[in-house]
Amino acid sequence: MQCINKILNLREQLNRWRLAGDVIAFVPTMGNLHEGHMQLVSQAKKQADRVVVSLFVNPTQFGEGEDFSTYPRTEAQDKQKLESLKVDLLFMPEVTEIYPKKSLTTVSVTGVSEGYCGAKRVGHFDGVATVVSKLFNIVQPNKAFFGEKDFQQLAVIRAMVLDLNLPIEIIPVPIVRESNGLAMSSRNGYLTAEQKNLAAQLYASLIIAKEELVLGQAEYLDIEKEARDKLTQLGFEPEYFTICRQEDLKPAAKTDKQLVILLAAKLGQVRLIDNLQINL
Ligand code: PAJ
Repeated sequence: MQCINKILNLREQLNRWRLAGDVIAFVPTMGNLHEGHMQLVSQAKKQADRVVVSLFVNPTQFGEGEDFSTYPRTEAQDKQKLESLKVDLLFMPEVTEIYPKKSLTTVSVTGVSEGYCGAKRVGHFDGVATVVSKLFNIVQPNKAFFGEKDFQQLAVIRAMVLDLNLPIEIIPVPIVRESNGLAMSSRNGYLTAEQKNLAAQLYASLIIAKEELVLGQAEYLDIEKEARDKLTQLGFEPEYFTICRQEDLKPAAKTDKQLVILLAAKLGQVRLIDNLQINL
């Protein structure tokens, strides 16, 4: 696996591959890799000739008081994991390589970025859309892989690619979970063993809501309130638990069939997100 940290060197290598007619897959990450990331890479390996992974903790998507400076950085282990999956190229730029000076340009997606995490983490999705569009321009992949774990992020990226006519196929990858149901996340490392057990209740609450939705009797607002109350009782601080339309993330009506329940809750200081898609 080649490890490159300069855009110029990366472009030289990618041009060679492109000239040879290789299909290039791209998996953007912030490192501290776990099975969820590995699943993205495995899918990419299956669907392309060359796989490029980026590892870049992007400062512009962290708000003030968020965990940018303490975000887990585990480069050596990450490299080993990527080597073992036979990734072709790891792009690991310094912050100054991606942001050499204060940017005058921001990529900002409206609509799907506005509620949920976007409402709570102001500027977060501008940071994500901007860095992903920069990485897309640097790598110019044929395909890019994103986890459904970050359902709203995936919606933002899809909208950006469509609106800006980017010739990149966005491929969603299902959520990888711990055996107790907890969605894998780099932030799970902040949890104690006891909190990790409790955190499994987030997925459990999604499953209960799904059962009620499938039965079709309860009002959506009641299902949501019941779930939030239960999570509060258990010791979470729920931020949102909303039954939405997969298509545009607007709150769902009873006539909608393609649903996704979006959930965010704090457990102690740790903010966790999860979601569940339901096709009625
Ligand atoms: P990061 O949190 O490192 O996630 C990188 C990718 O892994 C994202 O597409 C995310 O959805 C996916 N992922 C994380 N946990 C997953 C799980 N349990 N199952 C499946 N996929 C999972 O998301 C980011 O980084 C950044 O915002 C980034 C897109 C790299 C831009 O900076």
